[in-house]
This record gives sequence, C-alpha cells and structure tokens, in this order.
Amino acid sequence: MLRIGILTSGGDCQALNATMRGIVKTVLLGSDEPVEIYGFQDGYRGLIDSNFRMLGWSDFSGILTRGGTILGTSRVPFKTIDEVDEDGVSKVEKMIHTYHKLKLDCLCVLGGNGSTKTANRLSNEGLNVIALPKTIDNDTWGTELTFGFHSALEIATKFIDDIHTTASSHGRVFVIEIMGHKVGWIPLYAGVAGGADVILIPEIPYDMDNVCEVVEQRTKGGANFAIIAVAEGAISKEEAALPKKEYKALVESRTSPSVAYDIASEVAARTGREVRVGIPGHTQRGGQPCPYDRVFATQVGAEAGQAILAREYGFMVADIGRKIVRVPLAEVAGKLKFVDPECQLIAHARSVGISFGDMPIS
Ligand code: F6P
Repeated sequence: MLRIGILTSGGDCQALNATMRGIVKTVLLGSDEPVEIYGFQDGYRGLIDSNFRMLGWSDFSGILTRGGTILGTSRVPFKTIDEVDEDGVSKVEKMIHTYHKLKLDCLCVLGGNGSTKTANRLSNEGLNVIALPKTIDNDTWGTELTFGFHSALEIATKFIDDIHTTASSHGRVFVIEIMGHKVGWIPLYAGVAGGADVILIPEIPYDMDNVCEVVEQRTKGGANFAIIAVAEGAISKEEAALPKKEYKALVESRTSPSVAYDIASEVAARTGREVRVGIPGHTQRGGQPCPYDRVFATQVGAEAGQAILAREYGFMVADIGRKIVRVPLAEVAGKLKFVDPECQLIAHARSVGISFGDMPIS
C-alpha cells in the first residue's frame, strides 16, 4: 500500500487543483500497488488537527481548469509551529504525529515560501516530503517559475489594458496597484505587458520627482493620460534608507488604505493632474488557471508523482531553464527570490522608455 498525504498551504492561486491532479493521476496510473490519498483540509491546519478526507480518481478528474483549491487552505506561519498549544503539544509535533499515525509514505506540500520552510522542517524531522512551488508572487527561491504567476499576470495585464481606455477618455493619471508581496515580479511583467509608463517595484526604490517628471513630460508631449504600475510593496528612496524597524512602523502608521493611494495623492498634488487609483486585488488569485499554468502545473505534478513512484523525496519540484528539475528542500527553504534590478528585462524596459522612478528621464 502506498499512502500519500496532500495539502495546499498559504494564499491560494490558480492551478493548485491542476497540480494535485498531475500528482494523483501519475501515481494512480503508475503504481503497481494500491494507493491511498489523504487530502488534508485547509493546509497544515488539517495535518495539525488530523482533519483529512480520503480521495480517489474522481476527485481529481475534471479539475484541471478549476481555480482555488478543492482542499481549502490557511496560513500557519512558520514561526508559530513550535508554539505549544493548550494541550501542551506543539503544532509541529502534532503534524509529525498525524503523519505517523496514518502511516504515510510521503507528504506533498503545495505552498510558497513559508510553507516550504515548514516542509523542510518536517523533512528534517524524518518525514518524506515533496514541495511544489505555488504562488502568484513568483518569489520562491530555487525555481524560475511558480504556478499561479502566469495566471495572475494575465489578470493584472488585462486590468492595465482596460484602464487605458477610460484613462484616455478622461485624461487622467492612473496608479494601478499590483500584488506580489515583497517582490516585484507581477508588477514588472504586467507593467511591461500592459504598456505602463512607470513601474515601481520594491527592488528599485523610487524618487517621487522622477515619477512626476514622467507624468509632466507626457503631458507636454501631448499624451493626456499616464499609467503608473505600482507593486504593493513599492518603496521610496527615503523609505528604503530607513532602518527596517522604522520603515515597518511607518507602514503600520499609514492612514491611507495602501501605497497606491499615497503615490496617487502626491502625484496629484505635485502635477495638478486628476489621478485615480485602480486595484485588481484578490482577483489576481482568482478564476481559472491560464493555459501556461495548466501545462506547468501538469508537469510539476507529474514530476512529483514520478518521484513518489520511485520513492524519492526531500526536494521541491522546480523550473530551471524551462526544464522541470528537483532542488533539495534545504537549498530553497527560507529564501526569497527578488527581481534583479540589473536584469535584461529591466534594461529592455528602460530602453523602450519605461521609467522605474529611480532616475530622471535622460
Ligand atoms: O502571496 C500571495 C498574496 O496574494 C500576495 O501577493 C499578497 O501580498 C498576499 O498574498 C495577500 O494575502 P491575503 O490573502 O492574506 O490578503
């Protein structure tokens, strides 16, 4: 008997179901012994509470295109897993207990950075773990791509596309805030794909003078609108110069809903232009996976399934140079993958006139 546990952890994204389908179909079709699939409810929470349901072929059939996760998800921060609950047992001990109680052969964790850190911890505790790189943010170290990223990128790009017509009709400046947590992958790609005039990402701190210069230059040049794509984690040069603690306090003391509103009111005050904010928000994680994600999810799921059949564990499935590979969990856990400000895409974006707010227009 082959017993496999599966959970989806952290913020959801498109293609979670497609990935699980890839794992399960590969194992069910390839195993020469009976297989039991244990689906844990709401991420690590289900493993902690031993809350699971038995799943079979029919649960994974017809879900390639379905967004969200059939297992539910939750956030169990890594820093809390050693905390002892009221019953005197820590969360990590409970997870290990559930795994052994069910006599699992392995646990598949579909998760982002925090979840992979916990997966590595469980692996170090002797559990057989395989991680699969989930997140719209694309910030997982050790893989060039995470599933969810391309679907979110399509939604963010469509949002920018749609804003163009109304921005142009009304002659307005739009500040569009795009998800990505502490990194700028989605805003960078969506900004380039959507033809933004300015892209502000956390990896390149901006100067408001430079941002406003772009708006004024466009006005002078006869363009009646401008699009500023802003990462939710965008940071000014002054803010970036602050000690971490002070910056955190500053963000917490913000009275506006988010960074886009601060930037919008400053651009309006300095340029005298009419400025609006647009935020696609959680729609970026919603709906069906795009075709690219369906293919990628099928591949990473199948790779995990093949590893399970070969009894190989302790890694994250990754994309390196468009090849699906296995990277040791210890190598990826606890690291973030940032955009390299010197990368070719940024150089190319600059050469077509996109500003990153860090330098004046030459
Ligand atoms: O990690 C995915 C993500 O959507 C980030 O882009 C964003 O910062 C965060 O999750 C939002 O989290 P929540 O769903 O808890 O609001």
